[in-house]
Amino acid sequence: METYTLAGGLMVPVLGYGTYKATLENGEEPVLAAIKAGYRYVDTASFYQNEEAVGAALRQSGLPRTAYQVATKVWKTEMGYENALAACDRSLKKLGLDFVDVYLIHWPRGDLSDPHWQETVQDTWRAMEQLKKQGKVRAIGVSNFLPHHLQVLNGMEKPDVDQIECHPGYWQPQTVDYCRKQGILVQAWSPLARGRVNGHPLLTSLSQRYGVTVPQLCLRFLLEEGIMPLPKTTHAARLEENMGALTFTLQKEDVQQIEQITPCGWSGEHPDRERVYGDGLMSPPLT
Ligand SMILES: NC(=O)c1ccc[n+]([C@@H]2O[C@H](COP(=O)([O-])OP(=O)(O)OC[C@H]3O[C@@H](n4cnc5c(N)ncnc54)[C@H](OP(=O)(O)O)[C@@H]3O)[C@@H](O)[C@H]2O)c1
Repeated sequence: METYTLAGGLMVPVLGYGTYKATLENGEEPVLAAIKAGYRYVDTASFYQNEEAVGAALRQSGLPRTAYQVATKVWKTEMGYENALAACDRSLKKLGLDFVDVYLIHWPRGDLSDPHWQETVQDTWRAMEQLKKQGKVRAIGVSNFLPHHLQVLNGMEKPDVDQIECHPGYWQPQTVDYCRKQGILVQAWSPLARGRVNGHPLLTSLSQRYGVTVPQLCLRFLLEEGIMPLPKTTHAARLEENMGALTFTLQKEDVQQIEQITPCGWSGEHPDRERVYGDGLMSPPLT
């Protein structure tokens, strides 16, 4: 698979596998199936409570440690220097690994009422830098950081990655653009918008024209933008289908049309607000 090179030099595949809720029903099986289907980058988090299953699947795969990459994350309740160091050790133990390839701060503000959240982020980031020095993590990054969160890290080591909600209808171009200028790789969570954009007329018509499915089109759009999607599925056929995004390209004008889609498909999650719940949320938050 083609790769992106992170600012710190680590090469990662252009497409990864997301594991949130992937192990709920069948334990390690979906992760093992993803490895069999050719995925080599597995995204987990302490919050997903599946690091044991992910680690077990990777061991069962029989692949040498150098043949796959694992990313995990510091949860909201694990922020702070000492906490983050301990969190990494816990994650490594659960995964059964000596190091993870990519370690991320999951959300910039663990506690929305904390007036000193910037200091908490900086303390956590110092722990990330330390973990990298210790060889426990190979690359460090963040998740759900908008430009004003990223700016809190100015003067410190630059994050390699920012993992944000990113899909047609809510691709967060301002953050993507900021990251591009800073040399930070954007990873897309919910790259398929968990199906919320499936009936979109433009996506439907483009998918028919290219002879692909809407999920493949969503993933291809992100790849055309230089973003690394992390689709999750527990179905073997869909693992293959999603890989199919690597087998075609989109014309520039079609990418531009997808960029312009009226906002839709937002999850309801925003790093500076309480989550908004509702069926088929179609409007993103005010920026
Ligand atoms: N950093 C963060 O804050 C954050 C937040 C959310 C997610 N994530 C990461 O991003 C990953 C992906 O995001 P996500 O799981 O929210 O959403 P997603 O990948 O956009 O969508 C997953 C959903 O789409 C279905 N699906 C997958 N491929 C499909 C296909 N080809 N056709 C039809 N349906 C398909 C899956 O169902 P089946 O499993 O039944 O196939 C599942 O219900 C997560 O697993 C996690 O690793 C990170």
